[in-house]
Amino acid sequence: MSQRWSRKKSRLPLAGLLFILVVTFMILFNERSIQQIHHHAASHTQNLREPSTFDFVKPNVPRINYLGAHGFCFEKNAEVLDRFSKCNSTKEYSGKKIGWVDPFEDHPGQVTKEEQKCDVFSGKWVFDNSSSYPLHKESQCPYMSDQLACQKHGRKDLEYQHWRWQPHACNLKRWNAIEMWEKLRGKRLMFVGDSLNRGQWISMVCLLQSVIPRDKQSMSPNAHLTIFRAEDYNATVEFLWAPLLVESNSDDPVNHRLSERIIRPDSVLKHASKWQHADILIFNTYLWWRQDSVKLRWSSEEKGSCEEVKSAEGMEMAMDSWGDWVANNVDPNKKRVFFVTMSPTHQWSREWNPGSEGNCYGEKKPIEEESYWGSGSDIPTMRMVKRVLERLGPKVSVINITQLSEYRKDGHPSVYRKFWEPLNEDRLKNPASYSDCTHWCVPGVPDVWNQLLFHFL
Ligand SMILES: *[C@@H]1O[C@H](CO)[C@@H](O)[C@H](O)[C@H]1NC(C)=O
Ligand SMILES: *[C@@H]1O[C@H](CO)[C@@H](O)[C@H](O)[C@H]1NC(C)=O
Ligand SMILES: *[C@@H]1O[C@H](CO)[C@@H](O)[C@H](O)[C@H]1NC(C)=O
Ligand SMILES: *[C@@H]1O[C@H](CO)[C@@H](O)[C@H](O)[C@H]1NC(C)=O
Repeated sequence: MSQRWSRKKSRLPLAGLLFILVVTFMILFNERSIQQIHHHAASHTQNLREPSTFDFVKPNVPRINYLGAHGFCFEKNAEVLDRFSKCNSTKEYSGKKIGWVDPFEDHPGQVTKEEQKCDVFSGKWVFDNSSSYPLHKESQCPYMSDQLACQKHGRKDLEYQHWRWQPHACNLKRWNAIEMWEKLRGKRLMFVGDSLNRGQWISMVCLLQSVIPRDKQSMSPNAHLTIFRAEDYNATVEFLWAPLLVESNSDDPVNHRLSERIIRPDSVLKHASKWQHADILIFNTYLWWRQDSVKLRWSSEEKGSCEEVKSAEGMEMAMDSWGDWVANNVDPNKKRVFFVTMSPTHQWSREWNPGSEGNCYGEKKPIEEESYWGSGSDIPTMRMVKRVLERLGPKVSVINITQLSEYRKDGHPSVYRKFWEPLNEDRLKNPASYSDCTHWCVPGVPDVWNQLLFHFL
């Protein structure tokens, strides 16, 4: 009896102990406590490190909640940068980065069905001497730019106009101007970026204008925003000069060749106010980041003081600020956003023809080597771009022109364009020295970029 009793008695504290243990366990390790613990640990470590290396700056973008609420806030900003802006002083880079969130983030690395079916960016160039190529005629486009009109400026070999892009696994949709106009009816299509994007815009206008009667179309004068209008379709095809996407001292469409390049890494407001209401947006940026360094003027900095960073870092900040705009302003069911990847240059013929010393001058045929990639297309930059685009999921589609344009060493104007500076005799004797191996003749490669856009619309 007494033994049994004593056994029962000794069990009670054991059960109590177990109970307490379980409860303690639950309190300590339920989800909330874990978060709290992590939070605590994080703020603790943060305190231990240099505070400046942790500064994430929220970009200054209009935050329109497209699900209803309207949170437009143009903060009263420091001066808007223009070509007269200067840095009074330049400090070491503080380490500040752009921090942004996608308020509707639920789409990591999504791939659309279209892309799964066939990678239209993987393929080859096929010479097509049929009447359907080129897709438009240089001399019949009143909006042609003298920088791109290669035939007008004396180019005799015209094969460059006759190459068709053939994806390996499928066919590209056939270009059809009327069908494109139907897609654009009542809409604004806007290209935003640098001179390469402007070339694509000119190609698009030339591709489209031929089916519109002359008195039903118009072009506004060249400005920050230039607009081609087709009355009957109530549609526009526009170009906005924003070579660095974020606000900069190079935003004047004509006078932008400045020795010191200054950006506001945390602000796209100046440009976004213009592109905000477009229905279809085509962005690019790369060429203007191809220099050593860029100066930063953070919106919070008064007295015109700057920091200096490598251009690649500056570009990442610009892409992040732009990404924040897309994340907060784009409903993919209402607005389409495309990003065109880096356009390759052909500055060194030794890269495709070892031992030679020229550039794209005199090149008449594409490169045939599969997967050819020149040194001008920076791979770490491409990775960074990919990361930003993937984070935006279905809000942005990529038009990956890099590989297909790499093949086209024959597609640049070289000497067959108008040059702004007078050329002295020494240079004229050596055409390679002033050849433009960056932009593209139109008709030509940019028509195919537009065909890809048409394919995805
Ligand atoms: C393309 O076709 C034209 C005739 O239509 C011909 O004169 C020319 O030689 C052809 N070019 C090539 C490279 O085959
Ligand atoms: C023309 O398109 C704009 C949008 O770009 C729209 O607001 C307007 O109502 C349209 N006008 C007509 C007459 O359809
Ligand atoms: C620095 O430059 C800005 C203009 O960019 C000017 O308004 C300001 O007075 C200057 N500040 C100093 C301290 O020189
Ligand atoms: C574009 O295509 C190349 C291969 O041709 C690939 O390496 C790169 O990651 C692609 N870029 C993006 C942004 O998808």
